[in-house]
Amino acid sequence: MALRSRILGCGAYLPSRVVSNAELSTRVDTTDEWIVQRTGIRQRHVAADGELTSDLAVAAARGALAAGGVSADALDLIVLATTTPDHTFPATATKVQAALGMTGGAAFDVQAVCAGFIFALAVADNFLRLGQARKALVIGAETFSRLLDWNDRGTCVLFGDGAGAVLLGAEEAADNKARGILSTHLHTDGRTYDLLYVDGGPSSTGQVGKVRMDGQGVFRHAVGKLAAAVDEALAANGLVASDVDWLVPHQANQRIIDGMARKLGLGPERVVSTVARHANTSAASIPLALAEAAGDGRLKPGQIVLMEGIGGGLAWGSCLARW
Ligand code: ACO
Repeated sequence: MALRSRILGCGAYLPSRVVSNAELSTRVDTTDEWIVQRTGIRQRHVAADGELTSDLAVAAARGALAAGGVSADALDLIVLATTTPDHTFPATATKVQAALGMTGGAAFDVQAVCAGFIFALAVADNFLRLGQARKALVIGAETFSRLLDWNDRGTCVLFGDGAGAVLLGAEEAADNKARGILSTHLHTDGRTYDLLYVDGGPSSTGQVGKVRMDGQGVFRHAVGKLAAAVDEALAANGLVASDVDWLVPHQANQRIIDGMARKLGLGPERVVSTVARHANTSAASIPLALAEAAGDGRLKPGQIVLMEGIGGGLAWGSCLARW
């Protein structure tokens, strides 16, 4: 019998400080109206001084372990998606491993910016399906505020901090109706590297750097690439758009989310959207949205859940799951 990764629990953490659009408009030349109309974002959470990506990740991880009823010593894998590691090395995942009290197995980071959670989920799913791990935590955690140029109104209004986590367990799948991850599909196109990047790094400037973005360029690629990834996922599983119960997209911009929902023919009541309250939390956005919808009972066992995301690289992908 084939192994499948089932999602056993979700966790989330958002820093307590909330920054409204009105507060941002006292720092840069912007308005609440402009931000809401172009993005749907109304506020974002920002980590406190000294609050690190690993702190956010540990809080979300503890939530996922509690929701799944699994203790950290049963874990044999942590895959942490982040663009904002505590340090250039070691992997932030190893700090999380120690904080959770997990002493065996392996923990490492994956970097695919806003698509990072989908990439991390794909890596962990493959470990579980191959029998190389039995219980895995997949975490998306970001202190993206630390990469922002707070004088650039084109980017500083878009992002926020947070973390989300899912606990995966390998289970025998009797047939295709078994719950768990059905497929993951990953893509990158390095020719679009300059559309969205950080202008620093250990090997280039020796400084951390700040986010630089061609917003319209990213927007132009987003819906087309995501739509193709979704078509690919549905076709691989012999499903059609109307089979999807929930779209849980990367939360970058409500207009991109609406474009994807229209393409799938899904009404807003079938789309999990947190972008108004969280803004774009990069790799954390999908697991934060999953944790919210799982926590309030929207996601029900057996439902088809479609996750998709795109970010710097460009990197994009999808995950289709039976909840
Ligand atoms: N407040 C007020 N005005 C602003 C702001 C702001 N915060 N930011 C830009 N503007 C101005 C610009 O300077 C420009 O002014 P000008 O006409 O005088 O030159 C005007 O608004 C229009 O700027 P555009 O960049 O053309 O605005 P657009 O409608 O494209 O919206 C946005 C910008 C929201 C960034 C949009 O392009 C977008 O959402 N792109 C997707 C990018 C994205 O989501 N990135 C996140 C990371 S990647 C991912 O997660 C998918």
